[in-house]
Amino acid sequence: MYQAALPGPARPPADTAPAMTHRLTYVSRAGDLQHLREILETSRVRNAEAGITGALCLLDGVYMQCLEGKLPALQEAYRRIARDTRHGDLRLLKLEAVQRRYFEHWSLALLTWTDETRAMYEFFMPEGEHDLYDIDADKASTLLRTLSQSKNWLAA
Ligand SMILES: Cc1cc2nc3c(=O)[nH]c(=O)nc-3n(C[C@H](O)[C@H](O)[C@H](O)COP(=O)(O)O)c2cc1C
Repeated sequence: MYQAALPGPARPPADTAPAMTHRLTYVSRAGDLQHLREILETSRVRNAEAGITGALCLLDGVYMQCLEGKLPALQEAYRRIARDTRHGDLRLLKLEAVQRRYFEHWSLALLTWTDETRAMYEFFMPEGEHDLYDIDADKASTLLRTLSQSKNWLAA
């Protein structure tokens, strides 16, 4: 749940919320994978300009993307992402304020699936739950945190 939307004393003052670092995670169905290189190139430039860091995972035709930055920058990027026809069926998993970034050194890391990362994935998505599109928000967070500590990322 998005913390800033909660009522009560834990809620940060409305005017400080946009200045906090947020993390946005979504999944989508990939279109033609020939576009991937171009998507990465444009997105890395855009993200660097907007102070956004993050990662893009691609598994069996499903993208899972995690973006971190100030709220207005993330909202703007998500609008661009949502109107991009190179993927579809976007499902927003989570938008939350966070204390630290998982991918602070990456304008957009690409997760490469190796035996190690696949084993992590299968740990979080046990047998019978192998469509990444169906992952729940909490599992996605835990998986992304674990993957961010893995060494198997391509350089930005
Ligand atoms: C899978 C996927 C991931 C994307 N990731 C980002 C991203 O991290 N940052 C971003 O600004 N745009 C991202 N985009 C959007 C495109 O790169 C978009 O073409 C670019 O931002 C320019 O958008 P515009 O032509 O609407 O201005 C992504 C698109 C797709 C399909």
